[in-house]
Amino acid sequence: MENSIQPLLEEYQLGDLRLKNRVVMAPMTRGRATNADLIPTPLMAEYYAQRASAGLIITEGTWVSSKAIGFINVPGIYTKEQTGGWRLVTKAVHDKGGSIFSQLGHIGSASHPDHLNGELPAGPSAINPRTQSFTPEGFKDTLTPRELTIAEIEQTIQDYKQAAQNAKDAGFDGVEIHAQTGMLIPQFLSLATNERTDQYGGCIENRARIIFEILDAITEVWDSTRVAIKFTPVMYTHVGIVTPDVETIPIFQYILKKLNDYDLAFVHVTGPAQDLTGTPVEVLQNDYFSHFRHHYHGRLIANLGFTQQTGNEILNSGKADLVSFGQLFIANPDLVERFKGQLPLSEADPDTFYTGEDKGYTDYPGAANDRVLG
Ligand SMILES: Cc1cc2nc3c(=O)[nH]c(=O)nc-3n(C[C@H](O)[C@H](O)[C@H](O)COP(=O)(O)O)c2cc1C
Repeated sequence: MENSIQPLLEEYQLGDLRLKNRVVMAPMTRGRATNADLIPTPLMAEYYAQRASAGLIITEGTWVSSKAIGFINVPGIYTKEQTGGWRLVTKAVHDKGGSIFSQLGHIGSASHPDHLNGELPAGPSAINPRTQSFTPEGFKDTLTPRELTIAEIEQTIQDYKQAAQNAKDAGFDGVEIHAQTGMLIPQFLSLATNERTDQYGGCIENRARIIFEILDAITEVWDSTRVAIKFTPVMYTHVGIVTPDVETIPIFQYILKKLNDYDLAFVHVTGPAQDLTGTPVEVLQNDYFSHFRHHYHGRLIANLGFTQQTGNEILNSGKADLVSFGQLFIANPDLVERFKGQLPLSEADPDTFYTGEDKGYTDYPGAANDRVLG
């Protein structure tokens, strides 16, 4: 395919941010903040800088407070030192002409006391999400959490706001709220983990309330055109009991429609990793991303299993504005150059996804070196 007919390689105007192309690096937890204070390291700056030819990089999910932690060696953005570490990352990416958003996350009840000085995790209700947490001693089953008080929910929203301010201070170009399944926000949306009877539980509006309160708080710090959200209504693997239910479709319709009132940078949507036949979200099976276009009129990033070909196809179809690539960016730091040159792609090694320091992290060669080696 000629470059001229590869929409992935076209420049893109994201509000007042000019992206070099429409290839986005999807957020990926890599577990390389291997220090007790969860400060981003120079190695992380090198990793992101290697991938700066992406039109936009979205960082790994990053903790908004010490209470948000639930996976080892994942960096935070709630202390001065962490903010300083991120400054190295944003500078390294900007020096190479890239753009980078920070993904702000909180794992809620899917944490473990091992991450929280022995304290129980807290979630919307005292219901075990029945998943696993990656602790210093390996994967451990989650427990029955505490129910968050209203004051704690209000504090959590303030934590997102402060983290967003820290992201600004660290030189990021914007922030993305991590609402992918497994995190605190979907625990509020799900009928399985939210049995609250106050303004955060019960009807759809109440269960979705926290999203808009977080957005309202963050947009006091950032212009809305630099704020985004990533979610999926169709996740089934590694998420315990937070799987699609009979209200998943109506709650997402409600959320998408209401997001039209915010002039966001984009909504980032992950597709289904499995056949949805017989599930409560079966209706999304066909023409998945069109369902989102129908309800949400702002920019959309499509994600999950895209290739160069399917990425170009979805942009050509107009069903998405940008395409994000996860695993392909792990093993192909110069993914954009490879797309330009129609060069072969390397495969990522899952054993080093979350551990291994530089191995499987900064040691994947660019295509030029592949050829030299080959
Ligand atoms: C190692 C790894 C870590 C991930 N961590 C995150 C994360 O921190 N935040 C997030 O929203 N998604 C995370 N994801 C999901 C990716 O952003 C993306 O949705 C997924 O990999 C599908 O895209 P792909 O098929 O192009 O890889 C992760 C995926 C992988 C492979």
